[in-house]
Amino acid sequence: MTAAELMQALARRDAQILAHVGEIYGTDEAALAPACERLFVALHRYADTFSGDQPVVVVRAPGRVNLIGEHTDYNGLPVMPMAITRDVLVVAGAAADARVQVTNIDRNYADRSFALARHIPPFSTGDWCNYIKSATQGLIDLWDRADDLHGVNMVISGTVPLASGLSSSAAFTIAAALALLATHRRTLAPLLFAETMAHSDHYVGMASGGMDQAASVLGLAGKALKIDFHPLRVQPVALPHDTLIVVCHSRVRAAKAGNARDEYNRRVVECRIATALLHAAAPARAATAPALLSEWLARDTRGFDDALQQIQAHLHPGGYTLAEIAHALQLAPDTVLRTLCVTKAGLQYGAPAHGFKLLERARHVISEARRVEQSFTLLQAMPAEAAAQFGALMNASHESCRADYEISCTELDELVLLAREAGAAGARLTGAGFGGCTVNLLRAGAAPDFMRFMNERYYEPRELARAGDNQFEFAPATGAGVIFA
Ligand code: GLA
Repeated sequence: MTAAELMQALARRDAQILAHVGEIYGTDEAALAPACERLFVALHRYADTFSGDQPVVVVRAPGRVNLIGEHTDYNGLPVMPMAITRDVLVVAGAAADARVQVTNIDRNYADRSFALARHIPPFSTGDWCNYIKSATQGLIDLWDRADDLHGVNMVISGTVPLASGLSSSAAFTIAAALALLATHRRTLAPLLFAETMAHSDHYVGMASGGMDQAASVLGLAGKALKIDFHPLRVQPVALPHDTLIVVCHSRVRAAKAGNARDEYNRRVVECRIATALLHAAAPARAATAPALLSEWLARDTRGFDDALQQIQAHLHPGGYTLAEIAHALQLAPDTVLRTLCVTKAGLQYGAPAHGFKLLERARHVISEARRVEQSFTLLQAMPAEAAAQFGALMNASHESCRADYEISCTELDELVLLAREAGAAGARLTGAGFGGCTVNLLRAGAAPDFMRFMNERYYEPRELARAGDNQFEFAPATGAGVIFA
């Protein structure tokens, strides 16, 4: 269908079109009306900017909220997120030239255009369109050619709050990749698609794992996901009976182009160094050195308890200097820097002023992975007290993120304390940290009172209450897909 035909169908409330939209956003009028309006606006922009008379596709990719399992993914260890209804919607059509042209409904984002090529150079750091480029580059790398692609025009309409730990960047990337695929009449198997896109963050300098992309691609309506890596595997998990999820935004920006990115990458480096040191000290160590904590756990330990004991026995608290690490590994300091302290994007992270923290970081990752496994077992069995027990695991996760992994901040800590005061069964920061959001497990029906309390105690004193978009009730949503092709 053309953009003009789709607009006409929406205007006359065509039953088939409404059913398609309703399948994703909900069939009640309160959800359907704004979803149709948003789609109409995007189609209108497409017709205005490009053409109303050419066929278009409409695709979407959701953000995610992580329930538990923070900073475990890049260590090869499991996570438990769910996709959310906030998403990135793209209206796209084929273009005659070999360029990608992008315009965003939000006028704060300047129009962008770039040429398709085997290697696409990024725009300057922080440019929003780098996520579109990373999606394109990811697919071109997979196919190992760009000369058989035609250009694509895209209109982007996003509703995932930015720099908030809800994976707006994965939603951007995956929606753009789907637009590219759909306009070329190509498809990818979901697991391969998620894995291909997982590499995309490296394009923007993040050394992240694959959680966000997997959650966005593989999300299931009504279910959270237990995700394992290497190889990527996904199992659906139900939330505890009679509970719901509310997310609170601290309104502290966790921008991936700035300090948060470097702090994040430094954690990745610290985990890699801890892995090397733990392997060097393991009493019964495997012949092949592990690259990830998951491999160390599987090969050099007898499971979580033994791993935590080894961490306690072989690492010391507080900072390590580069010289101390080099000495323990019997390597030259320069070799340590070159082999362990460089991200895939080529960024190098030397020792910070307080040194590399290894015991604390490894303890967080291993105990967090254990909490994910415990949560999974619990939610599969679903005893009557699942909400309280899962909530306790979420609370323990926040404490570990705060004290051992040092990815919280005063605002997130305050939100978590207030949430517990307001009766949340569990509350923790979600996503990379350093700002962004908390995720709260509430009893069914408790959301209005909870939100009122948080408003009075957190948002109003900071004069943030009127800005809107502070608190969201989310049900697990369906993953990325083509809405119209
Ligand atoms: C970011 C990354 C993910 C994951 C989380 C922390 O969202 O993109 O891969 O590491 O942080 O759990």
